[in-house]
Amino acid sequence: MKHFISADCITNMTYALNEAKEIKKNRFAYSTLGRNRTLLMVFFNSSLRTRLSTQKAAMNLGMNVMILDINNGAWKLETEKGVIMDSDKAEHILEAIPVMSSYCDIIAVRSFAGLTDRSKDYNEEILDMFIRYSGKPVLNMESATLHPLQSFADLITIEEYRKKRHPKIVLTWAPHPRPLPQAVANSFAQWTGRYDAELVITHPEGYELDGKYTANATIEYDREKAFEGADFVYAKNWSAYGGTDNPENYGKILSEDRTWTVDSRIMSLTDNAYFMHCLPVRRNMIVTDEVIDSPRSIVIQEAANREISAQTVLKMMLEEL
Ligand code: CP
Repeated sequence: MKHFISADCITNMTYALNEAKEIKKNRFAYSTLGRNRTLLMVFFNSSLRTRLSTQKAAMNLGMNVMILDINNGAWKLETEKGVIMDSDKAEHILEAIPVMSSYCDIIAVRSFAGLTDRSKDYNEEILDMFIRYSGKPVLNMESATLHPLQSFADLITIEEYRKKRHPKIVLTWAPHPRPLPQAVANSFAQWTGRYDAELVITHPEGYELDGKYTANATIEYDREKAFEGADFVYAKNWSAYGGTDNPENYGKILSEDRTWTVDSRIMSLTDNAYFMHCLPVRRNMIVTDEVIDSPRSIVIQEAANREISAQTVLKMMLEEL
């Protein structure tokens, strides 16, 4: 694997999940694979899990790690092409990317959606510039539209906890006070669509995701019907994608309906489902304390598997260098 951008970069999902299982059994088995190799992690946005788990994964493989927070200590970056640079942005990304990549072997990037211009976000303009101008393998640490390291960790977790060969997985929208990107939900649908499971997505009308990610899912607007018999409930907020009929809704909050908060009553309709969320989570907005603190909540185990997903991916990338 050269770049790791989405589920499409994984040719064999079963192989990847087995690799992850082996790495989890002995995460230091390849501790010399990354010797004298450097990972640069570039953050345009905040992070707790991605930063720590990816750094730990790289260290397990013997890599050197450098981290740059673009908004904390670096020059402000201009990302538009052809502009007169008379603002407070002192450096253009067209120089910054090749300079940063000259110091590393793999470059990892986190750059969220701006949520104002759908075509700019869905064309992945920032990530694409890193692929085009770095000359190095690029690792997606959550881009405008996808969060593949999270989804891979989610599947590793589901694989560990599933009791049935073909579990029912429900991805449910839940309320949030701020508009959030669709990246986690898109990615979860994309990865789970390639897994041996039934995927049901439930949300208020207007929150339909980009159809290219939900082709293998059933969309169920009746929330109670969606939860019936579920083995896993994955909660996430996302802002509107807008669809073809309402592109002006892109990035907007269309519902603040708190009845969509995941609580014990709705969980009681499931087959004693496990509760999942990528974190950070807004308690008593997305999920009640009672559900997230219950023994069926596996959010911490899910976050811990971020180290395993990152290490599996980095191992595959190092083997291609
Ligand atoms: N789930 C996740 O990506 O967490 P962070 O934003 O803290 O990295």
